[in-house]
Amino acid sequence: MFPAAQPFGISCPTSIHFGTGRARDLPALVGQEATRILLVQGGSGLAAQPVLAALRGAGHDVSIISCPGEPDLDGVNAALSKMDGPTHVIACGGGAVLDMGKALAALGEHGVDLPEDFDRLPPLTARRTIRLIAVPTTAGTGAEVTANAVIDVPSKRAKISIRGPALVPDIAVVDPALAQSAPAAVTLASGLDAVTQVIESYTSSAATPFTSALCRPVIPLGLRALRCVTDAPDDAAWSDMCWTSLSSGIALANSGLGAAHGLASILGAQLGAAHGALCGRLLLPTLRTNRAHAVTGSEARTRIDHCISEIEAAFPSSPGAEPLSGFGTWMNGKGLPGLSALGLKGDRITELADLGRAASSSRKNAVDLPSTAYAKILQDAL
Ligand SMILES: [Fe+2]
Repeated sequence: MFPAAQPFGISCPTSIHFGTGRARDLPALVGQEATRILLVQGGSGLAAQPVLAALRGAGHDVSIISCPGEPDLDGVNAALSKMDGPTHVIACGGGAVLDMGKALAALGEHGVDLPEDFDRLPPLTARRTIRLIAVPTTAGTGAEVTANAVIDVPSKRAKISIRGPALVPDIAVVDPALAQSAPAAVTLASGLDAVTQVIESYTSSAATPFTSALCRPVIPLGLRALRCVTDAPDDAAWSDMCWTSLSSGIALANSGLGAAHGLASILGAQLGAAHGALCGRLLLPTLRTNRAHAVTGSEARTRIDHCISEIEAAFPSSPGAEPLSGFGTWMNGKGLPGLSALGLKGDRITELADLGRAASSSRKNAVDLPSTAYAKILQDAL
């Protein structure tokens, strides 16, 4: 199942600068050729403030576009109409802000607006003259190294990715200090997304020797860091959490994900719920269901069992309790809502399970699950 002896590629074209304080290097990284910088930031701009101050302090001309929520079709097109020939787009914020910046750089380079039907877009493959720099301020999505941007299309009640080489940032600056100001609920959801991504990449049916080597040590690291940044954060934990997020982005771009992300993509569009919270709620039922469907002794079963044992080590279940219940209890204690509280009605489970099974992320799930298994995952996550 896991093609260790099969040919594989490694894609990570982004130049990555990681470490506490690295955001201060941004003016030097963009250089003097950055004559017109467009900074894409979150609604309040607070998280991007150190970056903006560093750029302006170095004498750069910086205009700003705010992205208060997940980018939607009209918002992207409105921002494109305001773009004034930037030499550099710097996206500094959470995953939604990074996706907005990536979309603006790619579409701006190609000189096209977003159509209602993304199939009408030209291939976003141009070698950009607009330089694209991603500076995440949450430890979660890994979007600083991936080739897609998720756009909400309200008329279709769907969140649809645009993707292509033009969306891959040229530079990623991952500074754990920037993530420390995120609200607790954002830190929790982002961290659960990162942990889910690294686990789904490790168990993916398209895992490679490269993604396996990247993910295996990060799974326990990320689980411990998640606990620490939400309970008693310190600088080392923030650094580990950001490394988990970055690793998960590199891995998922090379291996794909699984059923938890397939379902989360559907539920995110249908319920409007936060991606990370959905991933956290779906992770444990997905692992249990995948384990039940994986052949004993198979590589998939071995990897799933490894992930479960790492979760048990980080979040021990009570003696005699069901495996993984310790992690679930911890999530509950952190106030993570169940799917019913996020808006899922029981009478929609069959419909959404079918959509989840058909989602692109689900194609790389550890095992090929029937729709009934996707329905069970949703039922167990209510
Ligand atoms: Fe994710």
